[in-house]
Amino acid sequence: MLSLHHHLPGTTTNANLQFPPTTHLRHSTPFPKTLTLIPPKPHLPPLTPKALLQWNRKPQLSGETPRVVVVTSGKGGVGKTTTTANIGLSLARLGFSVVAIDADVGLRNLDLLLGLENRVNYTVVEVLNGECRLDQALVRDKRWSNFELLCISKPRSKLPIGFGGKALTWLVEALKARGDGTSGNGNGSTGSRSPDFILIDCPAGIDAGFITAITPANEAVLITTPDITALRDADRVTGLLECDGIRDIKMIVNRVRTDMIKGEDMMSVLDVQEMLGLPLLGAIPEDSEVIRSTNRGYPLVLNKPPTLAGLAFEQAAWRLVEQDSMQAVMVEEEPKRGFFSFFGG
Ligand SMILES: Nc1ncnc2c1ncn2[C@@H]1O[C@H](COP(=O)(O)OP(=O)(O)OP(=O)(O)O)[C@@H](O)[C@H]1O
Ligand SMILES: [Mg+2]
Repeated sequence: MLSLHHHLPGTTTNANLQFPPTTHLRHSTPFPKTLTLIPPKPHLPPLTPKALLQWNRKPQLSGETPRVVVVTSGKGGVGKTTTTANIGLSLARLGFSVVAIDADVGLRNLDLLLGLENRVNYTVVEVLNGECRLDQALVRDKRWSNFELLCISKPRSKLPIGFGGKALTWLVEALKARGDGTSGNGNGSTGSRSPDFILIDCPAGIDAGFITAITPANEAVLITTPDITALRDADRVTGLLECDGIRDIKMIVNRVRTDMIKGEDMMSVLDVQEMLGLPLLGAIPEDSEVIRSTNRGYPLVLNKPPTLAGLAFEQAAWRLVEQDSMQAVMVEEEPKRGFFSFFGG
């Protein structure tokens, strides 16, 4: 069990913190590089957006495709749907074919964030009832035709009795078997083919909806905010994911505020990472543009010029593709690299 009060802001500026043993520090993913503070490296050239995002190359898709990734958190409202939309579109923009499944059955809203709500004519319910084909329930994004959305049900319709992990696994298998059955491996072409990524937007909590959403997944992106309630839930969810055989778990720390971290009113990303013991996929700053883009149905990563949070989501997408992770830095210890220093090493 985590002893969260040992890690409240103001008590964690020492790199040699002792952490109580947790149930999930047994990850197969190597992690030690994130456990030490990164000393400033004055010899490094200043980071530019180009160097940081490596626009000049395409990320190397790592692992077997389709990669079935559940985006989960435990606590509600921490940014799962925002992350699914932004990482999903980033992946599509990088040329990978993506299917995003909104598994938040009762309170679906991924369609709203993507601006696709008026185009959802069929859902999985109709597919399972034999009223339409799976292809008809997939809503193709107009901006990026290699991105498709699949909703489980219409907002007020009832789910078929017995809809659960097995049904979702059947859907994922059907998606894998689409078209000629070969993965696109990031060539970005449209048409029916097995996707490179299947992202599952998980509902909050750890009840039946959560179990359903994680069943077909073989990796997870755990979203948390830097507060003790979200962390406790994230810790619990990590244990449940591991019990379900999902060992590849990476985390995103969302709604980070450097001003509050500096004022010791918020845990740093490094504190969060040390507590959860998970590789870090990204740190997303609090950004009012997120709310604006949500209301416009236009995910942040499509904004021009890009915002801090949009860039952070794009970087997280890169790391997801390459199964990479980032190093967290303590704000207090950060080398002064200007605007982009937020993102760490
Ligand atoms: N980095 C951020 N900066 C500012 N606002 C954010 C950020 N991330 C998410 N939000 C806002 O937080 C709210 C909740 O986000 P979102 O719906 O993605 O969370 P969720 O985890 O999917 O919620 P639920 O558990 O209800 O499904 C939204 O209003 C969103 O705009
Ligand atoms: Mg959601």
